Amino acid sequence: MSVTGIIAAAGSGERFGAGFPKAFIQLGDLTLIEHAIASLAPVVDQIVISAPAGFENQMREIVGEEITVVTGGSTRSASVRNALAVATGDFVLIHDAARALASSDLARRVVAELIAGEDAVVPGVAVVDTIKVVGSSGYVESTPNRSSLVGIQTPQGFKRSVLNQAHASQAEATDDGALIEAIGGKVKVIAGEDSALKITYPPECGIIFPWF
Ligand code: CTP
Ligand code: MG
Repeated sequence: MSVTGIIAAAGSGERFGAGFPKAFIQLGDLTLIEHAIASLAPVVDQIVISAPAGFENQMREIVGEEITVVTGGSTRSASVRNALAVATGDFVLIHDAARALASSDLARRVVAELIAGEDAVVPGVAVVDTIKVVGSSGYVESTPNRSSLVGIQTPQGFKRSVLNQAHASQAEATDDGALIEAIGGKVKVIAGEDSALKITYPPECGIIFPWF
């Protein structure tokens, strides 16, 4: 069974505000995209990266010739679709460059579920905040029971044929699992990890990153 790792790295990183795409931010010895590659590489047979339009060559220089670089789209879903078009694996892992520090062990555990027969597998961690649904007028509408809420991470794993089906409608969602739900598919949640957090804002915003 072969596995393709797709890394969505075509975002502009507006909220981080580095002045260049977030995937190129340096974290220790490596850029975020290199960290993301390092976590998937031991687990996959092919890697495809969606790069921001206009940054394809810069991306190729960083990642080398063995990795396929495609031009991303204007949304994350479109960026994933562009990469999916050249994926060849039986299974695909869809990962965010922004979750650069996810471990290879997490990717391995996702693939193990696919091999065991799941069509769609997403890592999740219990939410620590109480979550409220707030209406447009600014008043709380409801408070979902926290015990059934999880924050969803990447890498998310799919049987490639099933993910192709989910993307066929050109639908938009903030993760690929939601597209599987939209076509009535079952999405298995496995234990995520704290290190797979999404790097979104710079540390000046009050978030303390241990590596800065
Ligand atoms: N992404 C992508 N193509 C887009 C938008 C986002 O491939 N058109 C990717 C990002 O590169 C990132 C992941 O999707 O790895 C999650 O997105 P996010 O954290 O929102 O990153 P950015 O969109 O770059 O950040 P921002 O929303 O602050 O601009
Ligand atoms: Mg974004």
